[in-house]
Amino acid sequence: MIVVEQLTKRFGARAVLRGVNLRQARGETVVCIGPSGGGKSTFLRCLNQLETPDGGRVTIGGVTVEGGRTEPRERQRQLRLRAGMVFQQFHLFLHLTALENVMEGPRHVLRQSRAEAEAGAREWLQKVGLAEHAAHFPEQLSGGQQQRVAIARALAMKPEVLLLDEPTSALDPELRAEVRVVLNQLAAEGRTMLLVTHDMQLARQIADRVLFLDGGVIVESGPPESLFASPEQARTREFLEQVR
Ligand SMILES: Nc1ncnc2c1ncn2[C@@H]1O[C@H](COP(=O)(O)OP(=O)(O)OP(=O)(O)O)[C@@H](O)[C@H]1O
Ligand SMILES: [Mg+2]
Repeated sequence: MIVVEQLTKRFGARAVLRGVNLRQARGETVVCIGPSGGGKSTFLRCLNQLETPDGGRVTIGGVTVEGGRTEPRERQRQLRLRAGMVFQQFHLFLHLTALENVMEGPRHVLRQSRAEAEAGAREWLQKVGLAEHAAHFPEQLSGGQQQRVAIARALAMKPEVLLLDEPTSALDPELRAEVRVVLNQLAAEGRTMLLVTHDMQLARQIADRVLFLDGGVIVESGPPESLFASPEQARTREFLEQVR
């Protein structure tokens, strides 16, 4: 479902991604961990073209974008449609209700009728446990509820994969739990998810495979049981000792 080959990205003189490779199957949940500044967010942003990679290749759901050249807008748009994104800070539209936030993309990007977009949005809100909050504005919702609206909004676009950048990091511990529940449910349903997190409890619960990204490369990857219990690389061990 996701194929990343030799992905590179620089900001000025600084090489932030230095040849990242990933093959992720449909239905697989991959969790990316690593120290601050290691390139995790840049990696996710390159996958859905919020950043333009300098080199390498990204394929999601059969759509390929090559780094280092000007791809047709339409191809970038197609790739972005296949990769829904959820951010640490939710990024909801503050002047729209929960329902309107979820309807916005289906209405204006997928060109659904108002009735169709609304029916879909109500279903997604129900799925993340927020049916009764459809008419509330973001400021009337807790952080955990806002993040669940953001997840519903991403899913309403019917993406092939869901990319999540620290979805629980802005939340207090008790609100974290409710977002974890939703993410675990999506993983159990066979969604294809690539998730960046510093929340090791979430990583252990949800990951089929963990990637340790540091210095712009994947230093090590493996199933959570073995990567957390017996990492092979010294850098992975040091990092895990710090976050434990
Ligand atoms: N738009 C940008 N312009 C210049 N430098 C950037 C930009 N975005 C990221 N960087 C730099 O790239 C490096 C990797 O940043 P990135 O945000 O990908 O790290 P991260 O692994 O997500 O870290 P964190 O865990 O703190 O979120 C950092 O040194 C950062 O300062
Ligand atoms: Mg980041």
